Amino acid sequence: MLLNKKILVGVTGSIAAFKIATLVRLLVKQGATVKVVMTPAATTFISPLTLATLSKHAVLVELSENSQWANHVNLGRWADLMIIAPLSCNTLSKMAQGACDNLLMAVYLSATCPVVVAPAMDEDMWKHPAIQQNIQKINTFGNRVIPVGNGELASGLVGEGRMAEPEAILEWTIHFFSDQKDLLGKKVLVTVGPTHESIDPVRFISNASSGKMGIAIAIELYNRGAEVILIAGPLSINIPAYLPSISVQSAEEMYKAAVAQFPKADWAIMTAAVADYAVVEPSAIKVKKQEDQLTLVLTKTKDILKALGSSKTASQIVVGFALETNNEEAYAIKKMKDKNADLIVLNSLNHEGAGFGGDDNKISIFDQKGNSTYFDLAPKTELAKHIINSIINYTYA
Ligand code: CTP
Repeated sequence: MLLNKKILVGVTGSIAAFKIATLVRLLVKQGATVKVVMTPAATTFISPLTLATLSKHAVLVELSENSQWANHVNLGRWADLMIIAPLSCNTLSKMAQGACDNLLMAVYLSATCPVVVAPAMDEDMWKHPAIQQNIQKINTFGNRVIPVGNGELASGLVGEGRMAEPEAILEWTIHFFSDQKDLLGKKVLVTVGPTHESIDPVRFISNASSGKMGIAIAIELYNRGAEVILIAGPLSINIPAYLPSISVQSAEEMYKAAVAQFPKADWAIMTAAVADYAVVEPSAIKVKKQEDQLTLVLTKTKDILKALGSSKTASQIVVGFALETNNEEAYAIKKMKDKNADLIVLNSLNHEGAGFGGDDNKISIFDQKGNSTYFDLAPKTELAKHIINSIINYTYA
């Protein structure tokens, strides 16, 4: 089931490292090509020779061995997936910080493939806020985390923090690769984030969009095999390394990039919170404080969604987003019709925990065929799947 998949296993210093022999054997048995990199600390828990024998490839530990430089960039580019298991507390901290003091970290930092980690720690360490913050931080880099298990720990205590069993990591991996690749061959343009409209060289008009919903959609599209054309405004979160993006600042720049890319796209999903107005004449120099009142003259920006909606071909699908505070549904549907979008996703601000910046959202989806679907408050990563499924249902129903 993993035939032709190239998997890089990164082993760090934890007692659970002994279980990686089983994991490597299971991956190889499924047809994967497996290469192993280890931290020096990991070699005290399991011998590189064991893993070299099972993976049928030399195991790399040092950045240079026998006067030869280990090419970490090639390794990170070679793999379809990097699994770091067990992930020790120390390596987790380095991942969160971007520290690079061994080969495994160099490979991780230069990897262009998705990365998944299977942490292993004692319960008290696992629950420490520093660890939890680091886990959240690497999540924002697009790294995935296989949940820790509950059970007997190396300390003799029983609790949370056990590395997921090799069978569970294998299952995760098979699921990752077999996850419906139902969007193979599809090209999808996604706009994400806010825009910055300059007032002067140091000030701008913007909004609180974090870009989390758009990035969750882009990751889900990627996982399902689509080619993502990501046009990103200035985000407060990271874009995973495996998602190339076109960075823009202003609504005008986003407009130009989107219009240029749209002819290549099968779908356009416009999650960006584009500024509706931009300063007519931004000052080339910093504006000094003078009068009690300052008037900025603003002009409407170009509506990107409307431009794509009005130029789309019969086979292109355009999806808009709406954020309303009152009369939500009617305004959202009107927006879809006015901008000739095929579907519109309504973000509800009227629910605690939903909206800008957070990890959760409360949405409903309306389409031009008259369908309405309402979703409960859920993580944005979960809703990304529903949004994509709704587009598929709309397209092929
Ligand atoms: N949008 C766009 N280009 C703009 C403005 C908005 O592409 N210049 C897109 C957004 O990406 C989103 C949808 O249009 O998909 C949001 O519609 P919009 O009219 O901006 O909503 P509001 O700003 O809330 O409009 P209004 O204030 O009229 O409700």
